Amino acid sequence: MSLKRHVFLIGFMGAGKSSVARRFARTCGVSALDVDTYIERSQGKSVSEIFAEGGERLFREIEAATMEDLSNKPDPFVYSCGGGVVTTPQNIDVMRERGVVIHLSVDADEAAARISDKSSRPLFNDIDAARGLCGQRKPIYEQAAHFTIDTKGKNVSEIVRELIAYLKREGILCQQHE
Ligand code: S3P
Repeated sequence: MSLKRHVFLIGFMGAGKSSVARRFARTCGVSALDVDTYIERSQGKSVSEIFAEGGERLFREIEAATMEDLSNKPDPFVYSCGGGVVTTPQNIDVMRERGVVIHLSVDADEAAARISDKSSRPLFNDIDAARGLCGQRKPIYEQAAHFTIDTKGKNVSEIVRELIAYLKREGILCQQHE
């Protein structure tokens, strides 16, 4: 199949963005890229190391520059973005201008149950802090997104099925020959 525009998956840590992007890419034969993994490779450091060295501020600067570069790629990709991508308003403009933005919604408790290694996520310190941050970001995700998929109680296949249905309906995912 072919993608007509970039697809940006946004949502809180543990929403399943990376797994959904990978499965979607494999199912539809399109290209996927995980923004945090790309940052870690290009910086030669883990996200936690970047936070430890320059704080969240440094990470957000690198993230914004990366979003600008990646969204300029001429071939459409599905990008799984870091959970805080929407905290930089410029990223929201870039994503909405250059692609379609999909919010995978999750609550903090379900997210906590899905994330096995919280040590790699500097902003997922404890469940109370995560609940607060998740609630604070929810309206920002909703506003930034063209479409929201509620992931509660759903597995990756079910979420991908909903994503495919939406993208086909909108003419963003088409059969190769179209
Ligand atoms: C962050 C989410 C993380 C990562 C960084 C900050 C956030 O990505 O970008 O730790 O602010 O929510 P995931 O959503 O992939 O865990």
